[in-house]
Amino acid sequence: MKVGVLTGGGDCPGLNAVIRSVVRKGVQEYAFDFVGVRDGWLGLLQGHVIPLDIPSVRGILPRGGTILGSSRTNPFKHEDGARRVRDTLATHDVDALVVIGGEDTLGVATELSRQGIQLVGVPKTIDNDVSGTDYTFGFDTAVGIATEAIDRLHTTAESHMRTLVVEVMGRHSGWIALHAGIAGGANVILIPERPFDIDQVCEQVKSRFKINYAPIVVAAEGAIPKEGRVILKDQTLDEYGHVRLSGIGEWLAQEISDRTSTDARTTVLGHIQRGGTPSAFDRWLATRFGLHAIDAVKDGDFGVMVALQGTRIVRLPLADATAKTKLVDPSLYDEFEVFFG
Ligand code: F6P
Repeated sequence: MKVGVLTGGGDCPGLNAVIRSVVRKGVQEYAFDFVGVRDGWLGLLQGHVIPLDIPSVRGILPRGGTILGSSRTNPFKHEDGARRVRDTLATHDVDALVVIGGEDTLGVATELSRQGIQLVGVPKTIDNDVSGTDYTFGFDTAVGIATEAIDRLHTTAESHMRTLVVEVMGRHSGWIALHAGIAGGANVILIPERPFDIDQVCEQVKSRFKINYAPIVVAAEGAIPKEGRVILKDQTLDEYGHVRLSGIGEWLAQEISDRTSTDARTTVLGHIQRGGTPSAFDRWLATRFGLHAIDAVKDGDFGVMVALQGTRIVRLPLADATAKTKLVDPSLYDEFEVFFG
């Protein structure tokens, strides 16, 4: 059996840990051969695959990024995309794929699986918004980075008695904002799932100043004012139809300054949340996902995604996992009401 491994979409810490564990178990226990697909689905469109064996995955466990490269290429947006994917697999005698991706990459995997390609999905993303799994790897590392940033911003905010707004990633879901905001003791947390009232945000900022604290506002990049629209970096769309976000932090700082006559600044954490070495939890989860994904290949159980449910790794139909985005439950957000303002 020859297995191809592919990483697609935005990178995240832990991708290399999955690749390593898939290859280690696949070679050692099942005597599989492997190839790596370069740059996500782009590699299958362009016929770009590379050898992958135990020596090539040595030492990559703690390394961020992906040794295979990644892209936001959507084969269904390219002429004859699905056929070209199949041709590359046939040319290189690849029997099955392990596809490591978020909602977009796994959405393509769902359709290719429906069309007969043998594959198993592994959920990744710092955003933690893939359905069916309690956590995706990459998320814990991103939350750790954002929490450390918030801790640091508290002390400088206090020195200058000003508001600091922290913009974190999270296009459709506020998982990073909520977890890091709570861990870092933020006073306001704004998430895409819950359009916010700018007057209320300003009241919460003012009440913080009144008791001599400098407010910290954490905003997911996809957070939306009730009376407005999501703020975009520019109008360009990627091949999955996503616009580039960022700008809500700047907008908030300006509004807070203008409306409260106090000083406010913004920090945009951006890709710092995605880069660098994975946390121990992400290495652990990514390693387990890899081991279970290659077991599914061995069992011929295709069209599934491995997922964490409680402490168990389970397999579920890819179509179920990619049907909808996993959003923050309003009741979870409400649990923390006492800390806001
Ligand atoms: O991977 C998802 C994500 O982290 C989103 O939260 C963010 O909007 C996006 O990646 C940005 O990715 P890029 O700059 O690579 O397009």
